[in-house]
Amino acid sequence: MTEAHLLKQALRSVVSGQAKANACAYRPGWHLAPPVGLLNDPNGFVQHNGRYHLFYQWNPLACAHGAKFWGHWSSLDLVNWRHEPLALAPSEEYESHGCYSGSAVVDKQHLTLIYTGNVKYANGSRTAFQCLARENADGEFDKIGPVLNLPLGYTGHVRDPKVWQHDGQWFMVLGAQSLDLQGKILLLQSPDLLTWQSLGEIAGSGLNGLGEFGYMWECPDLFRLAENDVLICCPQGLTAEPHRYLNTFQSGYFVGELDYQRGEFPHGEFNELDLGFEFYAPQTTLSEDGRRLMIGWMGIPDGDEFYQPTVEQGWIHTLTCVRELTLWAGKVIQRPARELQRLRGEKQTWSGTAQQAPHWDITHAEVEIDTDQPFSAQFGEALALVWDGEWLTLTRINRRTNQPETRFWHGALRQLTVLCDSSSIEIFINQGEAVMSSRYFPTLPARLTLAGSEQIALSYWPLANCMIE
Ligand code: FRU
Repeated sequence: MTEAHLLKQALRSVVSGQAKANACAYRPGWHLAPPVGLLNDPNGFVQHNGRYHLFYQWNPLACAHGAKFWGHWSSLDLVNWRHEPLALAPSEEYESHGCYSGSAVVDKQHLTLIYTGNVKYANGSRTAFQCLARENADGEFDKIGPVLNLPLGYTGHVRDPKVWQHDGQWFMVLGAQSLDLQGKILLLQSPDLLTWQSLGEIAGSGLNGLGEFGYMWECPDLFRLAENDVLICCPQGLTAEPHRYLNTFQSGYFVGELDYQRGEFPHGEFNELDLGFEFYAPQTTLSEDGRRLMIGWMGIPDGDEFYQPTVEQGWIHTLTCVRELTLWAGKVIQRPARELQRLRGEKQTWSGTAQQAPHWDITHAEVEIDTDQPFSAQFGEALALVWDGEWLTLTRINRRTNQPETRFWHGALRQLTVLCDSSSIEIFINQGEAVMSSRYFPTLPARLTLAGSEQIALSYWPLANCMIE
């Protein structure tokens, strides 16, 4: 299909579906959601001349995965966003089954997108090309085409290029599946973004002392953080354990040191980035003021997603809030980006026993809970959080199976910051030592109900909606 035809189809879908999507009570107040259709991974997160650009995997035509487009938002402050013209549509043969995930860099003052052209064949096989598109003077993206074919030794699952500059050269990490069906991360180098030379596998299942660790690793990101290198990736195929790897697919990181000459990345253990029900495919960028910012998809591609009630309203999924990353004692710490404090309304505080706490409206709110004593919290009727002095557990009813499902954190609790939107909760534990992110669909307006006979101190801010032009 020609690009013009695809763009017309997308536009028609937005025009005819937007009013219904906007009327949905679960539409977020201050998180990013697609105008209509399905959103998945954040892509091409970058700041250029002060303005943040954030692209996203988007099927504007249905609440289904399929031949993905790249949607595009921009913002000066990470709070107020503007819709930009659709950036990429899967119009060419080398991307016939989707302009899949990738990243953005600024090359000679031009915003440049590096993404995966996904191609599927009638016999069920597939191939992938890593492709380039450059912004022109009209703010549109001109496709340059494939700059890297499928490397030898891998299946057609090679995707999600994340590119950065180091010592005057470009480097790329790529998610890959080897022919023996092991998930890997490849490192490549280029002088000009157009020709790429492989430096080999830097991490993966069976490498760097890791045993079998998944059949495919998606969405890598590699960056410097406090004198270390952090590799983020999303391994698929990890076996669930009683208290971890409980989602269908995982998203986590390794801390190590990348040897650019040898193409080696000795690293420590894998840690999950988020312990909630919905978090996947995060991407980071370095802001112009030197902060490492991350945003993720508050979703998992596991089929359970389609039981979410927003599907009836013609849209599905949101992104997480933007988070600032730091490293402490070898662990990635995540805090809500400081810009989000601009959404706060008047602060209220309260202290006393948990069961006497006010039933604040948490439809759009931030709640801080200071205690190390046992208590439980009910978010609407849809999510229950229990701290028993040792384990923090988050429980909800799975919408497909109708059975309870639980996620866990173990440690010494001191403080929780809970960011609430009309259909999501992000729980930051001990100032970002761990995070639990989840979509939820309570009766609205949702109220907070605490229980427990111990003393607790609370702060509460209503949150304003973010502006989307
Ligand atoms: C992760 C992912 C990526 C791929 C994209 C397609 O959710 O599977 O690996 O590029 O989604 O939408």
